Amino acid sequence: MSHDAPPPVGDRHIGVGIGGGIDVERVRRDTPGLTRRIHLNHAGASPSPDVVVDTVVDHLRLEAEVGGYEAADLAAPQLQATRSSVATLLGCAPNAIAFTAGATDAWQRVFWSFPWRRDDVVLVGRSEYVANALALLRAERAIGVRVEVIEDDASGAVDVDAIARRLRAGPVALVSLVHVPTSSGLVNPAAAVGAVCRAAGVPLLLDACQSVGQLPTDVEELGCDVLTATGRKFLRGPRGTGFVYVRPTLMTRLDPLLVDGNSATWVDAERYELSPGALRFEAFERNHAALLGLGRAVDYALELGLDAIADRVAALGVRLRALLGAVNGVTVRDPGTDRCGIVTFTVDGHAATEVRDHLAAGGVQVWTSNAVHAQLDLPHRGLHDVVRASVHYVTTDDELDRTVELVAAISPATNA
Ligand SMILES: Cc1ncc(COP(=O)(O)O)c(C=O)c1O
Repeated sequence: MSHDAPPPVGDRHIGVGIGGGIDVERVRRDTPGLTRRIHLNHAGASPSPDVVVDTVVDHLRLEAEVGGYEAADLAAPQLQATRSSVATLLGCAPNAIAFTAGATDAWQRVFWSFPWRRDDVVLVGRSEYVANALALLRAERAIGVRVEVIEDDASGAVDVDAIARRLRAGPVALVSLVHVPTSSGLVNPAAAVGAVCRAAGVPLLLDACQSVGQLPTDVEELGCDVLTATGRKFLRGPRGTGFVYVRPTLMTRLDPLLVDGNSATWVDAERYELSPGALRFEAFERNHAALLGLGRAVDYALELGLDAIADRVAALGVRLRALLGAVNGVTVRDPGTDRCGIVTFTVDGHAATEVRDHLAAGGVQVWTSNAVHAQLDLPHRGLHDVVRASVHYVTTDDELDRTVELVAAISPATNA
């Protein structure tokens, strides 16, 4: 795939009727790189607005000037503000948030802190993410935990009734759900799953890696006990950042696997005490510059408003699916009835990577998803790989038109 910068795309005819309260010209100006290429890989990593980049660089310069520990002291109020911003985003208290290096780090820190015993049952959906699934396979192999896959409903979303039935049928230790999968534009009915889990008294671990920043993710509305997320995707923060929310009532039932001088206090030669709140899941060594950038990215999203973002992203997703669906030889592959800014499709006669490379040559950056990222999902739907185009509120109608034009150009039906 070529990474050479293609010619400028410009900002012609922005947002035909779907600005949705967001000043699209302004947000595009805030991220100049977006005017030099068509970036439809926000589900991979979304380019950060300049204010985020400046925040990171300023702190790196401060560290170079005064030293890393001294810079951390000076930035302590802003670091605390980052925790508060994430708490506002999730509708929880700041001390229920721990910072991590990404979503997988967040997920595994909490998952491995459950007091697992042989024959404990974990329910998962077909959207389970590769890293989570691998941890579950390891827990099966090493401990004898039993992982049960809950089938999808007729629409292709996780079947909430099937979860409720299984929760009634016998003990379940944990329900693990991916809100928005890596491999499709589906939005799983997380709040409905949260409600049945609460009714059964079983914790829900929600992987919100692909939903934070593009959808409202209030932990009370979602009814989850753990929520894991990354900074670099729809939140548009720096790479290497993430966070986890842990419900205070669950916190005390968990025994953090990874303890250090931040997550615990070494009180005497034989004993340690866990730090209060979610700090017990957080490592001492963190990239402070990136974390401050994450805080700025979260504030940026909060300033735009998660409802406004979700409306615009959904409208762009609908438009892209409609345009692609109208091209002969192209099949849109997103299951479910509730969908987001991730749009997956296949082109007859072409592997997903061929389509990606063709689009890259035309200045459009998309990504692909294949079976090794989604063994419970794509093969189950008879698919080996899909092209993944992911829009964000910065995306314009012109960009979608250009993308579909390029896709049509390699469709065998167009060239027949
Ligand atoms: C649904 C989902 N969960 C988890 C992750 C892992 O995130 P990270 O790379 O920050 O660990 C991803 C990454 O693509 C994802 O799509």
